[in-house]
Amino acid sequence: MIYRTLGRTGLRVSLASFGTGGPSNLGQAKGLSASEQDALIRRCLDLGINLFDTSKSYGGSEMILGRALRGVPRESYHLVTKWWGSQAADVLPDEPAELRASVDRSLRRLRTDYVDVMLFHGPLPGQYGQMVERYFPEMERLREEGKLRFTGFSERFHADPEHRLAKIALSSDPGLWDVAMIKYGILNQYAAREVLPLAQEHGVGIMNMAAVRIKLPDPRLLEELIADWKARGLTPADGVPAKDPLGWLVRGEVDSVISAAYKFAADHPAISTVLTGTSSVEHLAHNLAALERPGLPEADTKRVVDLFSHIAEYA
Ligand SMILES: NC(=O)c1ccc[n+]([C@@H]2O[C@H](COP(=O)([O-])OP(=O)(O)OC[C@H]3O[C@@H](n4cnc5c(N)ncnc54)[C@H](OP(=O)(O)O)[C@@H]3O)[C@@H](O)[C@H]2O)c1
Repeated sequence: MIYRTLGRTGLRVSLASFGTGGPSNLGQAKGLSASEQDALIRRCLDLGINLFDTSKSYGGSEMILGRALRGVPRESYHLVTKWWGSQAADVLPDEPAELRASVDRSLRRLRTDYVDVMLFHGPLPGQYGQMVERYFPEMERLREEGKLRFTGFSERFHADPEHRLAKIALSSDPGLWDVAMIKYGILNQYAAREVLPLAQEHGVGIMNMAAVRIKLPDPRLLEELIADWKARGLTPADGVPAKDPLGWLVRGEVDSVISAAYKFAADHPAISTVLTGTSSVEHLAHNLAALERPGLPEADTKRVVDLFSHIAEYA
């Protein structure tokens, strides 16, 4: 396993980290039994993963993670969890005390007395002021009490594909945010324009989320997406084939489109770790092996950048 430093936190984190949300949701969406869930987490540890991401909003993920990590020395892994109140309201109804109550619940479920990184979970750009003025002071108090070590935010990428929240946060108050969870991948390169350089400049650790997600593992969805982008003039009609549009990435040391996607997601120097959200031990091994191998051939990276880097859409 390759390890990188998570920005100014100084934490040494595995390049592959494990995400317990997303479409697989620690196997909850795929019908994994409790012992299969535990085995998946134990396999992560065996393979060198030392960073686990969860949230109060991921069904039973915190509880499952706490159960699976029982007996594992606490200093051998890092935990990230999250809180955000109402998802859509302009004026958020939750009192800051709800953040405190949520952290306490997360600690109980995770069977620990601290989390390494506590994130505001997907605020909208228009909610940034409240995140800083209403909730950040409580986050600071929780840090002083030792319930959390570092603070940050994740973005709500389907509603904010231009990364406006992250741009505001990292340009106006970079000193507040130790970590940002951003979506960056073959089909979502827009963060490379401003957000990733800002993070590098200010030492903000970047956790890269959802680099594969829905479209890349599903050939039909990928073909539909590319056909739509071509029809709307977002990518040239003759840029990639209609069938298996990214199949040309599979060559040399790159054994699948998914491997190419995780590799690309790790290649930017601002990125400390790439989350994988699989429910399968076979997929886990495959994805980690991809991240261990050298980067994509330069010509393929250039082609991917030429084709998609200007597109700011949820994909
Ligand atoms: N706003 C936020 O805060 C936010 C939003 C999204 C995600 N996240 C975090 O980021 C994590 C990562 O996002 P994600 O879960 O979308 O992860 P992802 O790794 O980009 O995508 C996971 C999906 O890809 C499939 N997959 C993975 N490896 C595969 C392989 N080798 N072959 C075929 N299919 C494969 C998985 O299915 P299988 O289970 O079948 O492998 C799953 O459906 C989440 O779990 C969550 O912790 C945070």
